[in-house]
Amino acid sequence: MARKTIIAGNWKMNLLPAEGEELVAELKEQLQIRENLEVVICPQMALVPMALDWIYDSVIQLGAQNCAEKLSGALTGETSAELLKVLGCRYCLVGHSERRSLFNETDDMVGRKSQVLLNMGLTPIVCIGESLAQREAGDHFKTIDTQIAAVFSQLDQTDWTRLVFAYEPVWAIGTGKTATPEQAVEIHRFIRSKIKEFAGDVVANATSILYGGSANAVNAADLLGESEIDGLLVGGASLKAEDFSQIIASF
Ligand code: 13P
Repeated sequence: MARKTIIAGNWKMNLLPAEGEELVAELKEQLQIRENLEVVICPQMALVPMALDWIYDSVIQLGAQNCAEKLSGALTGETSAELLKVLGCRYCLVGHSERRSLFNETDDMVGRKSQVLLNMGLTPIVCIGESLAQREAGDHFKTIDTQIAAVFSQLDQTDWTRLVFAYEPVWAIGTGKTATPEQAVEIHRFIRSKIKEFAGDVVANATSILYGGSANAVNAADLLGESEIDGLLVGGASLKAEDFSQIIASF
């Protein structure tokens, strides 16, 4: 079975309601439906309920950027996976490098958040990737290996089939410095080989692995042209309807 291609826009902490609404309206006009393609937007939390209305009558799916690692309780400021589900989210990013570096999110937390999401029927998009220092030290494979192992070791085995991974080299995020398709493919192959070790061939071959890090309208076609790259997680370029539409059209 062909893997699903997912093009997800991570809006990060950007856009006010009127801007988000306009962006989605423009996207809906330009979007061409393609078989086996999933288009996802991940707005900041307070925009999520509004975004459910904006995407109405379109193929666009809704994702969140983060969730709590527990189901409910005294966790001021957090958002539960259960609420995300009720609000119409199908996806949630987990372990984005900004959460790992700015909010001290550990590999174990990433694993626990993934499990809570899976229990609620949402698909976690698990973000992994090395820093510049780790790449320069030749530690990128080791880093990614540890990140993947932490997730699989926390999850119920029956849920191993329901993950999406996003390889986001930290040195490529927001820097304008994209990984070359060759660099991305090398790591995607490695990620798939690790999934294979845990979950076997069938799961590894069915798991979508996205690339993220300065993906844009110019480089999207080359990246998506690689059979190992099953989609993109787009930051800055997802905030402009024309750019994001062009990225989607590159598939
Ligand atoms: P940029 O596309 O702005 O580099 O951001 C990538 C990213 O962090 C997506 O999650």
